[in-house]
This record gives sequence, structure tokens and C-alpha cells, in this order.
Amino acid sequence: MYVVPKGLQLTLAIIKPHVVKAPHALQGVNKAILDHGFTVVASKTISLSENQAASFYIEHKDRFFYQRLVNFMASGPVEVKILAKEDAIKEWRQLLGPTKVFRTIFSDPESLRGAYGLTDTRNAPRICFKMPDVGHFLIGLSGGAAVAVTAVCIPFVTPALRRVCLPYVPATTQQLANVRAALQAPWPGAQGQVQRRLVDLGSGDGRVVELGASLGVESLGVELNPWLVAYSRARALRMARPRPRYLRTDLFRFSLAPFSDVVVFGVEQMMEELERKMRAELVSGARVVACRFPLPNWTPLAEFGSGVDTVWLYKVKS
Ligand SMILES: C[S@@+](CC[C@H](N)C(=O)[O-])C[C@H]1O[C@@H](n2cnc3c(N)ncnc32)[C@H](O)[C@@H]1O
Repeated sequence: MYVVPKGLQLTLAIIKPHVVKAPHALQGVNKAILDHGFTVVASKTISLSENQAASFYIEHKDRFFYQRLVNFMASGPVEVKILAKEDAIKEWRQLLGPTKVFRTIFSDPESLRGAYGLTDTRNAPRICFKMPDVGHFLIGLSGGAAVAVTAVCIPFVTPALRRVCLPYVPATTQQLANVRAALQAPWPGAQGQVQRRLVDLGSGDGRVVELGASLGVESLGVELNPWLVAYSRARALRMARPRPRYLRTDLFRFSLAPFSDVVVFGVEQMMEELERKMRAELVSGARVVACRFPLPNWTPLAEFGSGVDTVWLYKVKS
């Protein structure tokens, strides 16, 4: 049974171009978000066209700063995040601090605007809210609208208490390319294999599962966060059949036995336990693809990429 806290909310945060451009500032904002107990439900870097920025800020059309703001928001990539927390809208406003940056630097130096704002236009992240329903929210995210205007005040099922904290960090584009290479690597002894079945453990926004499906492999995402599951399912609707599937469950309580391919982008602290689970459940010859953190005691068959994008490929031994 799950507890459904009454005050849980979602809110949309947009990290403005001058912060996205400065890695240390972006890192600082992302850290503050996690330190203040927000769950990042989804995160995407996008570039707004002038038209998109203009319609997004249409409520300010008659204000003197409108054109300046539109130009600025279209001047470079922005990071769009959906944040979840109890009372998220108020909490996010508080973390942002007042809009008048020159005053905020002195009155609220710890706030995001105090720390990263430059001017009232370049005042770091932004909050937007009021959104009629979840469906619209998901469509906005998965479909054409570049930015979904949010703040959905609905309850959501709290993730089970976890022994290991595995946050949502989306795979980079290079990481995905490395996963693709690992999944396509020639596989000794695979001739007799009828149908490959892939599972991504902690499937996040579903892109790894979509990658598996696009390679013609039956693919399933296992994910604890209900919003990410809903988001991935909405994305899957746009895909050709057989579509990727998603299951909302704890990866440690999920049997790996039916799968020929396992992909995981976890954290270092969980890899040893996962290794034991895979050894106990996976069939001999199964393919394991580990992203960013290798399995501590297995010897990889191959390694793809470098740094944070590294992907290791393993073959399960009998
Ligand atoms: C580092 S992200 C990886 C996301 C995705 N696989 C990718 O490569 O972009 C880890 C994901 O695991 C999910 N997660 C954390 N603990 C989990 C658990 N016990 N069972 C299932 N999913 C979990 C998180 O919500 C998050 O989406």
C-alpha cells in the first residue's frame, strides 16, 4: 500500500540561458534542487524559437521588458525541469527568491536568484504554473509543445523508501550512442536465440527502452517513479508497434529471468547487489550493459566511450 500525501505538487522550472551556458552555475542550481528535496521527474535541454518564447511569455506582452525577455530566452538553450515535492510551487518560489535581483543579492544571497541572477531579465530559473490536467501536461511534454506550462496539483504515489538512492539522471546523447553500440555488438553463441528481450532497470524517461524497441528487440522499462512511467508510456504512443512497455515497480523486486538483455544506469553503491541479483537470475549468455558505473567484480567483454558516458558490456557466465 502507498501513502498518497495530499499536498504533493508538480511544477515546471526553466533554467535560463545564462545559467545553462555556465556549467558551474548549472551544477549549482541542480544541486540546490536536489538538496531542497525536490524530485526531478523529467529534465530536458531545449532551444526556444522567438515565436515560442513570445507565446510563452504572452502574459507580459504589454510590459516594457517583454521583447528583451523574449530575445533573451531565445538566445540559447534552456533547461526545462518538472519538479515534484509536497507544496512544490511555494517551495520552489522560496528557493528562487524575489525577482528583483539587485536587491535579492543582498536580502536572499542563498536563493537561486541571489546566487545566479544577473539582472531582472537574467534572473536564473523561472517558475510557471496553472495547468488544467495531467493529460495536457503529458502531451505537452511528449509532443510538439516545446514547453509545457505546468503545476499540476494532484496527488502522486510516493516512491517506496529506498535503501539506495538512485536519482533520475537522464542518459546523455553520447551515452545512448554507446548503449546502442553495446546492444549491437556481435554476440558469440547467439545463433540459436529466437527472440531477444530487453529490460532497462530504472528506465527514467524511456529513451533506452525506445532504443531497444527501435533495434527490433522486445523492450520493457522498469521504473519506480510513477510520473516517469506515465511520461514514457505517453512517449511510446508515438512509436510504431511493437511499442516499448513500462512497469512501475522496484527493480530489486523484479525478476530478470526472462530477459536476454539488461541495461542499467545506476549508482556505484547498488552495483554489487545488482551483480549478485543478475548472477542468480539471468540465463547464461545474457547480455548486460552497465552505464557510467561498471559491475565491480565482473570482467567486461568490451567498453564503449569514455568518462561519464562510458558503457561496459558483459556476458553472463554459467
Ligand atoms: C540514473 S536514472 C537512469 C534513467 C534512464 N535509464 C537513462 O539511462 O536515461 C535512474 C532511474 O532509476 C529510477 N529508480 C530509482 N530507484 C529505483 C528502483 N528501486 N526501482 C526502479 N527504478 C528506480 C529513478 O527514478 C531513475 O529514473
